Amino acid sequence: MAFLELTRVSFSYPKRGRRVLTEIDLALDRDEITAIVGPNGGGKTTLTKLMIGVLQPSGGQIRLDGRPLAGYSLGEIGRRVGYVFQNPDVQLFCGTVAEEIGFGLTNRGYKPEMVEERIQFYLDYFELGVYRNVFPLHLSRGEKQRLAIAAVLANEPLFLILDEPTAGLDAYRKKLLADYLQKIARLGRGMILVSHDEPFVGRMAERVVALKDGRIQSDSGRKGNAAYEA
Ligand SMILES: Nc1ncnc2c1ncn2[C@@H]1O[C@H](COP(=O)(O)OP(=O)(O)O)[C@@H](O)[C@H]1O
Ligand SMILES: [Mg+2]
Repeated sequence: MAFLELTRVSFSYPKRGRRVLTEIDLALDRDEITAIVGPNGGGKTTLTKLMIGVLQPSGGQIRLDGRPLAGYSLGEIGRRVGYVFQNPDVQLFCGTVAEEIGFGLTNRGYKPEMVEERIQFYLDYFELGVYRNVFPLHLSRGEKQRLAIAAVLANEPLFLILDEPTAGLDAYRKKLLADYLQKIARLGRGMILVSHDEPFVGRMAERVVALKDGRIQSDSGRKGNAAYEA
């Protein structure tokens, strides 16, 4: 049983007749890093939003951990799947950088000392320490991106979806991000990377799914077993 399983999933945005996704079949496990690639407008972001229940399919079914996604609340999905939005501005909502990183843990009832320890770890790793008490939306694009990622990682979700995570990051910080994601992948966290960044995908992905015009154009298969038609 796959962790996340899509069966003939189709989707159209309301009031826009055109189909954005057509009969997507995809099964993902928690033991690999999958990249979703393909041209702009191909439906990558829409597909990942369906996976976390922010959008509901017009047809087909999505199962998470063996149960229909429709039967979960958004909070229940959020505790299993961490999601980093393509635009960090829509994700950041706390008054300070430190609160943003600690929010999920505090919410889940972690002790303040434990929350503080994690906040400090992520501030250090993502080099945001000097901004500890800054209003998140006052950060630069790259800093907001690092914060949005840190805030999701701090919750240690079982599975992660990152939509264009390297946007706004320089080469050194991409490397730091890659190292961190590979480390948690080895610990058994599955993830989806939606990315245009070919070197990043090349370095990270064990499986590559290409989406074009709302259909799966190619899929390298699990751990790249089947041929990948680029
Ligand atoms: N909120 C929305 N309302 C209506 N159409 C949308 C919306 N978001 C995306 N679309 C359309 O859906 C298609 C797929 O977009 P998207 O999922 O963002 O693709 P990608 O992430 O691959 O660039 C595009 O044609 C886009 O214009
Ligand atoms: Mg997108």
